[in-house]
Amino acid sequence: LANFKATNEPILQFLPGSQERKDVEAAVANFQSAQTDIPIVIGDEEIRTNQVKYQVSPFDHQKQIAKYHYADGNLIQKAIDVSLKARHDWERAPFEKRAEVFLKAADMIAKERRGEVLASTMLGQGKNLIQAEIDSGPELIDFLRFDVEYALELMKYQPISEGSIHNSMVYRGMEGFWAAVSPFNFTAIGGHLTSAPALMGNVVQWKPSDTAMLSSYTVYKIYREAGLPAGIINFLPSDGPVFGDAITASPDLAGINFTGSVRTFRHLWKQVANNLENYRSFPRLIGECGGKNFHFVHKSADVDSVVMGTIRSAFEYGGQKCSACSRAYIPQSMWPEVKQKLVNIQKEIKLGSALDADTFLSAVIDDKSFDRIKGYLNHAKSSDNLEIVAGGNCDDSKGYYVEPTIIETKDPQDTIMQQEIFGPVLTVYPYPDDEYKSVMNLVNTTSPFGLTGSVFAKDQAIIDEVHDTLIQAAGNFYINDKSTGSVVGQQPFGGARNSGTNDKAGGPHYLLRFLSPQAVKESK
Ligand code: SER
Repeated sequence: LANFKATNEPILQFLPGSQERKDVEAAVANFQSAQTDIPIVIGDEEIRTNQVKYQVSPFDHQKQIAKYHYADGNLIQKAIDVSLKARHDWERAPFEKRAEVFLKAADMIAKERRGEVLASTMLGQGKNLIQAEIDSGPELIDFLRFDVEYALELMKYQPISEGSIHNSMVYRGMEGFWAAVSPFNFTAIGGHLTSAPALMGNVVQWKPSDTAMLSSYTVYKIYREAGLPAGIINFLPSDGPVFGDAITASPDLAGINFTGSVRTFRHLWKQVANNLENYRSFPRLIGECGGKNFHFVHKSADVDSVVMGTIRSAFEYGGQKCSACSRAYIPQSMWPEVKQKLVNIQKEIKLGSALDADTFLSAVIDDKSFDRIKGYLNHAKSSDNLEIVAGGNCDDSKGYYVEPTIIETKDPQDTIMQQEIFGPVLTVYPYPDDEYKSVMNLVNTTSPFGLTGSVFAKDQAIIDEVHDTLIQAAGNFYINDKSTGSVVGQQPFGGARNSGTNDKAGGPHYLLRFLSPQAVKESK
């Protein structure tokens, strides 16, 4: 294992009749044949409480695909106690033992369990097959494999020893426990928020997203079947505030690994601050909190790359990737052509069930999302500065369907250019071609976020200038490419400003956050 090198898992094509396609179809049928009953898992114990909840398919909200149970504060405390007992042996196990668990899980997901993980993501989170594959296949598999390579690399460092002095660095995990709070939009994120701290020798309390319960549980079961010992990661569906209160009140909190809203992350951070005197150590906080991602287009750009990149970034998975483009800045001279092409494609792409092979985007995740996005559409309809040039309708009678929508704005600082929408809504500001310098500055200052962004230009001097101006505007910056689709090992992911702590999941530095090394000096 010492020289283990990860390579990116290929994305499968799922051609009709292929084995991988049959596997997914069988897994979808299997999940549909009976509702999955998902327990709380603490140590080796499966617990079902009378606080019962149901997960529905976003594209067919009368279909309950899973039943699950909420843990209360006492059960969360019990989970903490169980894992604190389990951590002694896990922390002391050779790194290879921990790595074996997650490499085995990666292989299981890559092969015999791929159909099941994908199907759970399609049914529960409304991803079409290819979006489910990108997420629950290669991204999750790559996280698991690349982390092993990175950890081995990090732990190679040993300090200088001279003469009768022997120095060494022991790569310990952290005392106490980590809490992982995962979002609905990527199955891979929940898998990784938990696997990374566990790989480095920590124990984890996992609160999965209610709207990603089936896929989270599927991944959790695979980890356990791959050899993850009881109590190292506990599976704790629960009410957000109940979970937050329980973990932040514990003196043993070592850290929170969070992906979700700015509001919740700030709230957790304040809870930690309020309890600071009571902790045994300083909890570490890792957060990824979304974005207001931009495409900045210069008049030297290639029109077709702009059009395809923008359609894909804004509308794949209904704009529900943290990295989705939701504001575009396009030179006025180019806008008529770009607009025509965007509108033509918007008419072609299919909004439908995630299970249909030709669906480009499906329903948004739930009623709360639907209402929030509808609010932005209503704002666009009632504002003189905004014109809807395509889409704009929504219908939640069967599923939470929102049409892919393109809005043109006269005001680059309208709230629709500032706030995260997390839906299939793209707003374009057509700017006077020769004002690109001031528009670039607007891109930098209009939103409080700093996650992803793209520049489209052929002129290298322009690319360099935009890059320099927007150096803090995006943690992931793309040149002549869309703002979504970071690949583990190729574009480590994360942003600063209100987008989070920018710890770069999918890169080597991320793992440092879960280590608390001990330096040992021995005099012979
Ligand atoms: N990493 C994903 C992307 O880049 C978003 O979470 O699209």
